[in-house]
Amino acid sequence: MSRPRIASLLKDAQPGTAVDVRGWVRTKRESKGDFAFLELNDGSCFGNIQIVVDANVVPDYHTLIKQITTGASVGVTGEIVASQGKGQRIEVKAHAVTLYGTADPATYPLQKKGHSFEFLREKAHLRPRTNSFGAIARVRNALCYAIHTFFQQRGFLYVNTPIITTSDCEGAGQIFQVTTLDLALLSGGRQPPDSALTTQAASPSPSGHNQGAYAPRSEGVDYSQDFFGKKAGLTVSGQLEGEIFACAVGDIYTFGPTFRAENSNTTRHLAEFWMVEPEMAFCDLEDDMNLAEDFVRTIIRDVMEKCPDDLAFFNERIEPTLLASLENIVSHDFIRLTYTEAVDILEKSGHTFEYPISWGKDLQSEHERFLTEQHFKQPVILTDYPRAIKSFYMRCNEDGKTVRAMDVLVPRIGEIIGGSQREERHDVLVDRMRECGLNPEDYWWYLELRKYGTVPHAGFGLGLERTLQLITGMVNIRDCIPFPRTPKSAEF
Ligand code: 4AD
Ligand code: MG
Repeated sequence: MSRPRIASLLKDAQPGTAVDVRGWVRTKRESKGDFAFLELNDGSCFGNIQIVVDANVVPDYHTLIKQITTGASVGVTGEIVASQGKGQRIEVKAHAVTLYGTADPATYPLQKKGHSFEFLREKAHLRPRTNSFGAIARVRNALCYAIHTFFQQRGFLYVNTPIITTSDCEGAGQIFQVTTLDLALLSGGRQPPDSALTTQAASPSPSGHNQGAYAPRSEGVDYSQDFFGKKAGLTVSGQLEGEIFACAVGDIYTFGPTFRAENSNTTRHLAEFWMVEPEMAFCDLEDDMNLAEDFVRTIIRDVMEKCPDDLAFFNERIEPTLLASLENIVSHDFIRLTYTEAVDILEKSGHTFEYPISWGKDLQSEHERFLTEQHFKQPVILTDYPRAIKSFYMRCNEDGKTVRAMDVLVPRIGEIIGGSQREERHDVLVDRMRECGLNPEDYWWYLELRKYGTVPHAGFGLGLERTLQLITGMVNIRDCIPFPRTPKSAEF
């Protein structure tokens, strides 16, 4: 007998069919000693299947039912019957029940419902068994599938870029160093202070936004002795390598883990997150924005179609405006304006911000949220940011002050996409690297792309977990990745 998952049983199973289901008990109700109802969940969907256990049918009923409590793992063979009770179309009449593992009610951490997300973060090994985290896991899966589908349907090539690199794409000095050198020797035999244990900033930030500014302990180290013969670290973005492939095969995307030693404890930052980065040859900022907008709307629509029950749960329990806001996003064009226009709106808004804004400053999440939640009430694409606050690879505008950058901002989160048209002019790029405090020789291969057959090209990066925050309404990004890595936290 094949063993269908509970999702397909709840959807299609007809009374009279023999079944074999396995899962974890969410609740047990006993009625007068000769009947029990189990709510069984196997993670395939939000709903549970109800199992009716009858003492007159199931062998060892009394021993079993005593041992089966919330969290226990069981297998049930029996028959699908039309449900007598309210709330479900069908249920399973058990013929036999196998108890795989008990879960002692005195100690099982998920014995009761309604734990806080903070509590569940300490139980990352068990939290996928809760309603919320089961739903997040399914939505994340549907989102990843939608992302691949979107690009595959448009002929983009999926390119795997390296996790260990020797270049700092964002030039912001937020690299986790990878070394086989003896750290104790690097720190002169002394223990490094707590904050510098493993995160040694690779270089100071040219744009001044390095938030993890630890004193480099490795100055004077001979990296030719290190594993790669060079200072290496975990990638902050696959973009530079993505550009190599876009400038050879056209449209590509990368999708993988990304690492940033940002020492920021916010609800929107992780030290390890997943990023999707498309890169397109023969493409300018306008094409880039069109793709980004189409992309965000399409993947949200796909997930809404695939996971209606999970999203209904988030709408009911987490964020009451969720479905309306997603509907609003998929059915309206995004607003497009320049950074300069946005700053003007913010300055004239009369709103008091914690960080006052003026031209030249980077937008904080409060500014992004004001624009998307209060002013425009929908997603916004800002373009042409000041060159001093953006990365070296963005194409310089003729005004000498701004670059062809674009950020997609959404309600509740702020920035979910950062992108740009790339600087394809060799000499302009060399000057710009120097302006950003980078040594052009370190980027010789990146510069050669501009020397041989250069083309206008553009791309962007979408943060997967921030997108998941948007789609689920979850407030904290740590709840949108199975095992969050943040400052002082990598237990599981
Ligand atoms: O704006 P960012 O830094 O852009 C880049 O890395 C470019 N190289 C992308 C490109 O053009 N190919 O990051 C892109 C997105 C952000 O908009 C945000 O959604 C996410 O990545 N992101 C983070 N998500 C979680 N935690 C962090 N620390 C993040 N940093 C960036
Ligand atoms: Mg950005």
